[in-house]
Amino acid sequence: MKTVVFGNDHTAVELKKELIPYVEAKGYQVINVGTDTTDSVDYPAIGEAVAVMVAEGKADFGIAVCGTGLGISLACNKVRGIRACVCSEPYTARYSRLHNNCNILCFGARVIGPETAKMLIDEFLDTEFEGGRHARRVDMIMDIERRNRTDE
Ligand code: RB5
Repeated sequence: MKTVVFGNDHTAVELKKELIPYVEAKGYQVINVGTDTTDSVDYPAIGEAVAVMVAEGKADFGIAVCGTGLGISLACNKVRGIRACVCSEPYTARYSRLHNNCNILCFGARVIGPETAKMLIDEFLDTEFEGGRHARRVDMIMDIERRNRTDE
């Protein structure tokens, strides 16, 4: 069974209650690393928790949600090996897998509602990376990450 790690800040608690069962019903195990209360929390810590689980292979994919999807995606993308994308409509969610081989889907709980979120999740989780010329381009992105490491 494939695993999805789900992380959210305080803006997405209600949305998450609807989305985790939805992802489980699609046949995934879901690990919840987000907050479950509306007390304000810092989205970078949650983005990092999602991203590390994906980068370490403890989850196949991540879903990370904050108010806009932006802050948490920026945090996720600081972890090596992560390609996180912010989506607000299904076409981009589909192509984030097909052409960009993204491994974390981000969206904004203050931007979209639950039905759009489910459409994004369907496109993201049901689409395989196309490979071919797109693999070369994704490799180029990951080379940027390798060339710009400052901690080695
Ligand atoms: C929290 O108010 C908000 O800043 C956060 O959820 C997110 O939208 C940041 O990018």
